[in-house]
Amino acid sequence: MKKIVEIVNLDHQGRGIGKIDGKVIFISNAYLGEVVEVEVIKDNKKYMEGKVLKYIKTNDNRVNYACPYYQKCGGCNIAHINYKEQLEFKKNMVKDIFKRFCNIEINPSICESENKINYRNKVTLHVEENNLGFYEDKTNKLIKIDSCLLINEILNKTIKSLKKQLDVKGLKEVILRTNGEETLAKFVSNDPLFNMDIVLKENDNDLQQEASDNLKENAIIFNLGKYKYAVTVDSFFQVNTKQAVNLYDKVREYIAMDKVDTALDLYCGTGTIAIYISDICNKVIGIEINKSAISCANYNKKLNNIDNVEFIEGDVSNIINNNMTPDLIVVDPPRSGLDNKTISTIKEIKPKRIIYVSCNPITLVRDINKLNEDYKLNDIELFDMFPNTYHVESVCLLNLR
Ligand SMILES: C[S@@+](CC[C@H](N)C(=O)[O-])C[C@H]1O[C@@H](n2cnc3c(N)ncnc32)[C@H](O)[C@@H]1O
Repeated sequence: MKKIVEIVNLDHQGRGIGKIDGKVIFISNAYLGEVVEVEVIKDNKKYMEGKVLKYIKTNDNRVNYACPYYQKCGGCNIAHINYKEQLEFKKNMVKDIFKRFCNIEINPSICESENKINYRNKVTLHVEENNLGFYEDKTNKLIKIDSCLLINEILNKTIKSLKKQLDVKGLKEVILRTNGEETLAKFVSNDPLFNMDIVLKENDNDLQQEASDNLKENAIIFNLGKYKYAVTVDSFFQVNTKQAVNLYDKVREYIAMDKVDTALDLYCGTGTIAIYISDICNKVIGIEINKSAISCANYNKKLNNIDNVEFIEGDVSNIINNNMTPDLIVVDPPRSGLDNKTISTIKEIKPKRIIYVSCNPITLVRDINKLNEDYKLNDIELFDMFPNTYHVESVCLLNLR
């Protein structure tokens, strides 16, 4: 069924919203004010989804994104909008979510990313029959790729040279992470016996390989501000290194607004935030569930000569308890946000301030609602960690009422 649709709004994933005979239709790669001819590809009771066949009228802020896999590989989704408009879209999206779900009016500033492309220090590629690629959005269909506009050029170079090495038995995934000089490669096989962690070092344009089980040699070092962080391929680390520094500076700025004796850094990863704020707190305790990340965190403490930080391995909800008396808690949970047990314990502990770093505004507002009786949102700033995608990071300061 072909129809002509005018785009009157955008959803939270940056898809254009229009109407056909009064029913809402969501259309990828269609921007505000545009008029498009679409094919209806899904027709549910409540809404439809459409695919653009032809642009009848385009928005002046539309740009040409030079990626052959755009709208196919499941990575970028708002790259057809110029960068300034991307930032406006993200700001309005978060404003709308706060208004709709929390009834809080906010007007946050958004920190732009210095790099709009080639900003990712990490990539996960799926492997099928010696082909490397990404999965199409919401499917397991492999879209073969030779390169990606979002990742660091070194990773693109590595992808090209990797093609010769794909005959590892049962290989299903290759994960690459680079600091610009060294690159970690993890080969994940259906048979764990064939899993491999390799450090690729650049040497006269040839890639030399080194494999080891030792943390020190299975990690690469990233510099954030004045600190150094060893990161393994299995540990969480922000993918946009330059923007991570801006985000952690904001966390520091919020913390420095008042004196802190003990801070908890919940979901601490490789100890990034705990170490970054160690000089403005008397003591910091970081909690993290991932073994590899906690080994990095303990290593990073020594690497930076820091002795007022302690790391505990385990599930945050089991480790924090109301015998702990921090005056400040930083939380940086995964997309699913905070669980109810953790929220109840935080409310019992009653720290004076909470700094909530979030990669998902929907779970962020859900948790702010749950904390609302005791905590008031004092400030929020957004960070564009992932240009050309609809994702956005928020940093919130919550004060005890
Ligand atoms: C968004 S990352 C933040 C890491 C760190 N703050 C940073 O900036 O690098 C979330 C981290 O939470 C960890 N995690 C997930 N669920 C957890 C849980 N229940 N308890 C403790 N850590 C958890 C993940 O392993 C991951 O390292």
